[in-house]
Amino acid sequence: MRVIETVSQAVSACANLPRPLGLVPTMGFLHPGHISLVNRARKENASVVVTIFVNPTQFGPSEDLSAYPSDMARDLAILESKNVDLVFAPPASELYPPAMDTWVEVGAVSRRLEGVHRPGHFRGVATVVAKLFNITSPTHSYFGQKDGQQAAVVKAMVRDLNMPVHIVVSPTVRESDGLACSSRNSRLNPAERRASPVVYRTLRAAEKLWLAGETRADVLKQRMRTILNAEPLVQKIDYVSIAVGETMKELDIATSGAMLSTAVHIGNVRLIDNLILNGVCQGQRSPRSRGH
Ligand code: PAF
Repeated sequence: MRVIETVSQAVSACANLPRPLGLVPTMGFLHPGHISLVNRARKENASVVVTIFVNPTQFGPSEDLSAYPSDMARDLAILESKNVDLVFAPPASELYPPAMDTWVEVGAVSRRLEGVHRPGHFRGVATVVAKLFNITSPTHSYFGQKDGQQAAVVKAMVRDLNMPVHIVVSPTVRESDGLACSSRNSRLNPAERRASPVVYRTLRAAEKLWLAGETRADVLKQRMRTILNAEPLVQKIDYVSIAVGETMKELDIATSGAMLSTAVHIGNVRLIDNLILNGVCQGQRSPRSRGH
């Protein structure tokens, strides 16, 4: 496995790797969610490239970039064991030299939900992902459904800028109690960690209500707020949403394919999660016909 830190070396090394080439962009501190993306990329491609870069431009001024967890030695050992061909782990100065002054701004899909609470976040994400695509020239790139809006923003960018890469979105990987795997989970104290499954429990409760026939989005969202508010360690709810999966536009009626999502603060940690309504209750074997 080659580990490369400069853009020029990464461009030529990636150009020489056999296609199809699967790219897994990460900010490091790998967890089972990342590993499932790497495993899938390995299965579906001749070459696998992983990037490890804590992208400063997607953090807001009040978000603590320096507190972002990191363990490069552990990450590299994991990636080596997964037969990754190349890791690109540049310093910030490689991707953001002083003259850098071009940004990718995706439209409405990036301004809703996370975009309201983290202004500028998706401009940073879209810009760095576009740069990583240009540097590595992947045929496929892998993202987790856990960051559902991020995946929608990247898909919109690829569509609108005619980027020749296929975006693959893989299911959210969860701890046994339902908490979605995230690097941020390591910042939960033990009491907060015990409280955190409330996020997924809330999504599941709304899904269950929908499966029972309730399609009014305001009723489903009220149920979500009631469950979240009953957990004393939930300090703040940024949003509960039922939206079109591709555009993040809010729905009045929850139809099949809609994305239920929420962002909450548990202690100082902001957690996001989502679930797609599809008539198959998670854990259930056979789809139920919903007539939607
Ligand atoms: O999901 C992430 O880890 C980041 O947003 C990404 C896609 C690597 C861009 O910095």
